[in-house]
Amino acid sequence: GHGHGKPARGLRFTPVEPNTADAVTVPEGYGQNVVIRWGEPILRGAPDFDQDRQSAKAQAGQFGYNNDFLMLMPLRGEHRRQLLVANHEYTDEVLMFAGYDPDNPTREQAEIAWAAHGMSVVAVQEEWRTGALRPVHRHQLNRRVTVSTPFEVTGPAAGSELLRTQADPSGRKVLGTLNNCAGGTTPWGTVLSGEENFNQYFAHADQVTDPEQAARLKRYGMSGGASSRKWERFDDRFDITKEPNEPNRFGWVVEIDPYDPHSAPRKHTALGRFKHEAAQARLTRDGRAVVYMGDDERFDYLYKFVSKNRMWRGNSAAARRHNMSLLDEGTLYVAKLTGDSPADEIDGSGKLPEDGEFDGKGEWIPLASGDQSFVTGMTAEEVYIYTRMAGDKVGATKMDRPEDVEPSPRDGRIYVALTNNSQRGTDGKPAADEANPRNANKHGQILEIAERHHDGRALRFHWKLFLVCGDPEDPSTYFGGFPKDQVSPISCPDNVTFDPYGNLWIATDGNALGSHDGLFGVATHGRMRGQVRQFLTVPTGAETCGPLVQERRVLVAVQHPGEVDGASVENPASAWPDGPGKITRPAVVSVWRKNGGRIGA
Ligand code: FEO
Ligand code: CA
Ligand code: CA
Ligand code: CA
Repeated sequence: GHGHGKPARGLRFTPVEPNTADAVTVPEGYGQNVVIRWGEPILRGAPDFDQDRQSAKAQAGQFGYNNDFLMLMPLRGEHRRQLLVANHEYTDEVLMFAGYDPDNPTREQAEIAWAAHGMSVVAVQEEWRTGALRPVHRHQLNRRVTVSTPFEVTGPAAGSELLRTQADPSGRKVLGTLNNCAGGTTPWGTVLSGEENFNQYFAHADQVTDPEQAARLKRYGMSGGASSRKWERFDDRFDITKEPNEPNRFGWVVEIDPYDPHSAPRKHTALGRFKHEAAQARLTRDGRAVVYMGDDERFDYLYKFVSKNRMWRGNSAAARRHNMSLLDEGTLYVAKLTGDSPADEIDGSGKLPEDGEFDGKGEWIPLASGDQSFVTGMTAEEVYIYTRMAGDKVGATKMDRPEDVEPSPRDGRIYVALTNNSQRGTDGKPAADEANPRNANKHGQILEIAERHHDGRALRFHWKLFLVCGDPEDPSTYFGGFPKDQVSPISCPDNVTFDPYGNLWIATDGNALGSHDGLFGVATHGRMRGQVRQFLTVPTGAETCGPLVQERRVLVAVQHPGEVDGASVENPASAWPDGPGKITRPAVVSVWRKNGGRIGA
């Protein structure tokens, strides 16, 4: 193991019962505060939020919409302060603007949405004697990254003809980032963020006549006419007939240095292009960077990247520059999983096979390394830009929507949230296999991977399903072998993180059991392995995102509260966080133990 985890132990808080309260509900003995809401000013000169007088200029200096991934980074030399980095995945115009007309958005509304996407970096102050956090509104490291921020394209596909546009003939400079879902950190102190459902912003794929281009667009979810937000009316780059390569400039892992607000964030072509849920880096035994990544689509793949070069220790300018280039060069792999039970024991019901485990072996199939392609019929450039098609060609395993992936800091085992797959085993679609053992999978599963010799460079691994989610009374569920009468129901795992003790924390999106989404803790080792306990629930219409579990604090992003069919500013489905009569606002929440104790102890 890596040796810096503390001993594993169970989680001793009283579980929150499944519920549909329009609130953040936490266990008895825990306190909470709203840290920062959509629209709060974080940059010098930005005005206070005013729901009736929004502007793109104001939003560009305010906290963005739909907070997703969260990370707290140390702020050395500043007493009781940390640096919060947040993703802003997408906008919900109908919940942002009174009287919004989806058929006729105004230019100002589109530009507000551009400024509400992206990322925020904001210093936060710890309150004395509680776990509350407050934003430091004009800290010099505070930053907004939006759809207009210049990014540098790096790695082997930078400058490719497939990335060039009229505005950027170099193919190396992209404006903005889109649909930043989850993310991760690097051992050299930067933040990674995944561009996920970027396809929804690009219009008129239906007018593309070239069959190869149409097939590529279709594989990435682009085949329709007008886009839902109609941005193509205000900027030609969102119209595929006018800028055919612009969609190729999204769908990457981006890296941002939160300590340098003037640095251009990077888009890393070496890590492949797909609907990146997230990216978490750790080191191989010999000091290279390995990054695990899921492509959140039904029947899509799990990937990893291993850098060619090793990390340099220390924080010198030279070390920092070297380490920030690690993700430019290396090998991109896709996962193939093989079950060890006879195929006829996997009947799609979720019934355990005779050996008592959904488990087996796996291999990492190389796709490309530098400018060398390992995929027949595709150049390296094409592998990086049309990575899904490379996965198709090499026979990678079609998974049930791979979302967040997190290596355990305790022993390096890797945990993959497979959120659900309503189409598994339906007409013309792949049927259940040992790693994805339920047809019409409503509740998802958590896959556990042990790399050979616990080394991130390994080409082979063992895997097993750690959790098969759902109501514990449902016979198709499995909780790591723990007695099922002592666990919380859990459905649709999405984001995963570890606490300092090696307990896994799981946030859900789309709970199909009738309760609101929430956050769950579970031990992965020892006697309590598999004892899932619900820690909190989120308000009506919301998804639980960005969980971060420190020794004495839990941080969650309440994303899209009030997002319910038919809801609008005038007809809200949620009164969170500010009560009736106030606009619903996505926000970050901090939770702590009122007695000052450790989380879960
Ligand atoms: Fe943005 Fe796959 O969740
Ligand atoms: Ca088996
Ligand atoms: Ca997610
Ligand atoms: Ca999700």
